[in-house]
Amino acid sequence: MNKILVAPSILSADFGNMAQAVINVKEWGGDIVHCDVMDGVFVPNLTFGMPMVQALRKYTDLPLDCHLMIIEPEKYVERFCDAGADYVTFHPDASKDVRGALEKIKAKGVKCGLVLNPDKPLSMIEPYLDIIDMLLIMSVYAGFGGQKFIEESIKKLEDAKKMLDGAGREILLEIDGGISEKNAKAVADAGAQILVAGNAVFTAENPESIIKQMKNYT
Ligand code: DX5
Ligand code: ZN
Repeated sequence: MNKILVAPSILSADFGNMAQAVINVKEWGGDIVHCDVMDGVFVPNLTFGMPMVQALRKYTDLPLDCHLMIIEPEKYVERFCDAGADYVTFHPDASKDVRGALEKIKAKGVKCGLVLNPDKPLSMIEPYLDIIDMLLIMSVYAGFGGQKFIEESIKKLEDAKKMLDGAGREILLEIDGGISEKNAKAVADAGAQILVAGNAVFTAENPESIIKQMKNYT
């Protein structure tokens, strides 16, 4: 069994105290800091951009995983890389130049990935299996934390795992939306290697225990 990594999403943290949030993520045993970037256009919500990523970079040595929910990500991906991102992912349906954006990220020495909302098919990813380092499957519609996990995502993960196994190169499989210690085993068994969790971690009385349960689900 592959090691499961947990990526707490700071979307559910106290926006008045983000530096402390990323420090906490490490203390609680989180592996990656998931940063949800929303533009109010691709999704009906606004969060933060490159300056926040750059600011948080100083407070943690954990990888920063930037999930861009913005239109025309090709215009901004390099600036997220320069701000200190370790992974930059975006939604292919938001981009006019998917390959160009992926190439820009790679050229910066940063891992690149694509994200699929629940209604977007895996076939959208196929043309990019030669370049992506990560595939992020949304198990809720991107835009807000605290939504309910969509059960059909399990089957999509299984199909995604098969597709990625056939790619002949290492591509990480990440799941995001409604993930908690309760469904961690199901999504990990279906092939997810990185589990994003916002509410489950940040509203927990004991976040360390929640992260531990998500990692050692067997
Ligand atoms: C939703 C974001 C998620 C969100 C997950 O658009 O991409 O990363 O923070 O939050 P939970 O775990 O609360 O569903
Ligand atoms: Zn996300």
